Amino acid sequence: MMRAAAFLFLWPVVAYAQEPQVSAADGLAAWDRIFEVVSHPRCANCHTGPSDRPMWSGPSYGETRVHGMNIRAGESRIGAEFIPCRTCHVTSNTAQNDTPHAAPQVADAWRLAPVEAHWFGQSSDDICQQLRDPERNGGRTVEELVEHLGHDVILHWAWAPGGGRAPAPYSLSIHIRDMQIWGNAGQPCAAG
Ligand code: HEC
Ligand code: HEC
Repeated sequence: MMRAAAFLFLWPVVAYAQEPQVSAADGLAAWDRIFEVVSHPRCANCHTGPSDRPMWSGPSYGETRVHGMNIRAGESRIGAEFIPCRTCHVTSNTAQNDTPHAAPQVADAWRLAPVEAHWFGQSSDDICQQLRDPERNGGRTVEELVEHLGHDVILHWAWAPGGGRAPAPYSLSIHIRDMQIWGNAGQPCAAG
């Protein structure tokens, strides 16, 4: 009993190291929550794939549309070939982002996600396959995905976006835990 209680208490922190087997059903349930996050506007607006254009979507934007002002990311993904993202999305350690409709600012270079990490408008299975494929996910194992989630300040903004924007669902720690569960289950996708 004692042992079980201690284990449950530690579980969110040590799940990856201590729990070798998670059922595929639990893995798929974790994936469903991961999909709710990665398809949310706060993530997907930047993960737009080959379109080269960030999106404006979510309740604070009303209608879904491409980023205004003819913004393009270019091959650099930071707009270096056109108008750099940083012209408006200034890199700042102290940004509060409390003004509605102002350009979000974070403590890193604001930029579009890599072409391969195409999530906007993609199905749950498409994104599942992409995220478990090292050829398309930046060469990451699931542990490295978890590490990326822990360190990347751009995506941390998505849970505290300010300016009346809807935050991404759940929380960073729940999302990290779900990624660990999905990893321990062998990164299952619904289509196999
Ligand atoms: C001329 C200024 C300007 C430039 C340059 C610019 N943006 Fe924006 N961006 C904005 C503004 C303003 C908003 C917020 C609009 C609103 O909330 O109505 C915004 C919002 C966004 C959003 C939506 C964030 C959310 O709410 O989910 C994304 C994604 C984005 N920009 C990506 C980029 C990328 C990537 C670049 C460079 C390739 C870029 N922007 C360049 C002004 C700019
Ligand atoms: C401002 C744009 C932007 C937003 C918003 C954003 N991302 Fe990203 N994302 C990126 C960039 C740029 C990279 C590439 C970074 C790298 O590889 O180091 C990336 C890469 C990733 C990766 C690595 C795996 C892959 O396939 O490349 C994950 C996982 C990820 N993002 C998760 C998220 C999640 C979850 C959210 C929302 C909670 C989010 N991102 C929101 C720009 C963004």
